[in-house]
Amino acid sequence: MTAPSAATGTPDRGAQPLLAVRDLAKHYGGEARFLRAPQALVRAVDGVDLDIYPGETLGLVGESGSGKSTVGRLVLRLEAATRGQVVFEGRNLSALTRSELRPVRQRMQIVFQDPYSALNPRMRVGDFVAEPFIVHGLLPRADERQSRVEKLFQQVGLDPASMRRFPHEFSGGQRQRINIARALALQPRFIVADEPITALDVSIQAQIVNLLQDLQEQLGLTYLFIAHDLSMVRYLCQHVAVMLRGRIVETGPAESVFGAPRHPYTQALLSALPIPDPVRERLRQRIVFDPRDFQPAPDAALREVAPRHFVLD
Ligand SMILES: Nc1ncnc2c1ncn2[C@@H]1O[C@H](COP(=O)(O)OP(=O)(O)O)[C@@H](O)[C@H]1O
Ligand SMILES: [Mg+2]
Repeated sequence: MTAPSAATGTPDRGAQPLLAVRDLAKHYGGEARFLRAPQALVRAVDGVDLDIYPGETLGLVGESGSGKSTVGRLVLRLEAATRGQVVFEGRNLSALTRSELRPVRQRMQIVFQDPYSALNPRMRVGDFVAEPFIVHGLLPRADERQSRVEKLFQQVGLDPASMRRFPHEFSGGQRQRINIARALALQPRFIVADEPITALDVSIQAQIVNLLQDLQEQLGLTYLFIAHDLSMVRYLCQHVAVMLRGRIVETGPAESVFGAPRHPYTQALLSALPIPDPVRERLRQRIVFDPRDFQPAPDAALREVAPRHFVLD
C-alpha cells in the first residue's frame, strides 16, 4: 500500500466543488398502486448534502442498506431523485434535458462492486471497453478504436493482447481493471466507485486501490468512493462522509474525522479497525453502536464542530 500522495491531498480550496449535492432524497414505495396494498415507505436517502472538490476523493461509508448506492445512482442521474439537487460543473443536472445531459454523462462514470456481473459474459473484453465509443458515435474507425482500447488496457495494467478474451478467462482483480478501463474510455472527470474492492480477495484490494490512486494523479480524476467500512477509505480519501439510514451523520476532512470522531456511529466504525501499532492495538476497545438506536430529532442538522467537519446533532 502506497501512502496517499500530497498531490491529490491538496485540492484547490479556492475552486468550486466539482459536485455539489443539496438536500438529496429518494423514497421508495409508500403509495398504493392499482389492486395492490400500499408498500412501506423506504427513505433510502433522506436529505443528503455533499461537496466534492476537483481532484479530491470523498469516501462515503456506512453499513449495508444505509443508502450509499442510491446516492451514487442519483448523483449520476441513473435514477430521478424524490427531492434535492445535484450540481455538476456548476450545472443543476435535474434542470437539463436529455440531450443536454448526454455530453455531461460522458464526464461522469461508475465502477460497480461486482466486476463480473458488470461485464457481458459473451462479449470479448476489448469490445466491452470499446462499446462507449460506439454508443456515443466516437472513433468511428475500427483501427482508431483498437489503438485507444490498447492504451486503456495498458493504463489499467492489463496486457493489450488479452483484448480478444472473454470475461471468464480473467481473475476478479483483472475483471475490475476491465471495468475501470471502460469507465475511463470517454475521459471522465468524475467517477463513482461503488464498493469497487468489496468483492475482491483481500490480497487484490490494495492493488485496485493503488490503481485508482495512480489514475487520479495521472488524469486528475475526482472520486466518490463508496465503502462499507473505513479500512481503505483512510488510505484513499481526503474527505469522508458517514451515512446511516439515509442520512449523513458526520462528514469532514479525513484527518479531522479519523482524529476526533464525534458521532457514536463513526466512533464505532473506527473502533472496528485494527491499529498498526501493536501496543495501541492491544488497548483498542470496540465501541458498539446499534443503528436501531439512531433516532435523529426532527430538527437535527449538520453542525460544524471543527473547520469543515460537521456532525448531525
Ligand atoms: N429500487 C428500489 N426499490 C425499493 N427499495 C430500494 C431500491 N433500491 C434501494 N432500496 C432500499 O433503499 C435502502 C438503501 O439501499 P442502498 O442504496 O442499496 O444501500 P447501500 O448501498 O448503502 O447498501 C435499502 O433499504 C434498500 O432496500
Ligand atoms: Mg450498495
